[in-house]
Amino acid sequence: MTHFLKVGILAATLGLGLSFAAQADEATDNAATQSRQHLMSGIGGAMGTLGCYMKGECALPDPVVANLAKGVAYAASAAPGAFEIATPDATLKTTAKADIWSDWDKFAPRFAVLEENALKLAAVAGDKAAMGPLLGEVGKSCKGCHDDFRSK
Ligand code: HEC
Repeated sequence: MTHFLKVGILAATLGLGLSFAAQADEATDNAATQSRQHLMSGIGGAMGTLGCYMKGECALPDPVVANLAKGVAYAASAAPGAFEIATPDATLKTTAKADIWSDWDKFAPRFAVLEENALKLAAVAGDKAAMGPLLGEVGKSCKGCHDDFRSK
């Protein structure tokens, strides 16, 4: 009797463990997906503000412009860490292609290029003539990676 009880408890524990593991995978993958999307949204927001500034539609002090560019640089440096975990069990909507994880060596270094260009941009904050071509380079980093590693 005790024996059966023990086996029953063991089976129940194992069963629970398994279902927790399955839930944990989904929860972990959703959290990772959300976190990398927040990081990208931050980059997108900074770029939108820089675009507005360049068009003369948003007046901003030079240090604020520099900090926006540094924010992009920092986010780019943190991005490989945020994308590192493949998220096959995510149920959140994601546009990240599976190629990111099968072709990581082609994907991840692009963030280093973005970081470098964003830092160059920060260094000339306020000088719109110098910023123009650098912002163009930064924009190319975004588009190049999105074309290859993001589904529509
Ligand atoms: C090395 C690749 C790479 C680079 C460089 C990159 N992105 Fe992304 N970006 C992605 C991927 C992959 C996603 C999809 C993430 C997902 O849906 O899980 C994404 C998603 C986004 C999103 C949507 C976020 C959301 O809430 O779903 C925005 C906005 C964005 N990127 C802006 C930018 C901008 C602006 C730049 C350039 C300054 C940039 N990205 C550079 C790979 C990149």
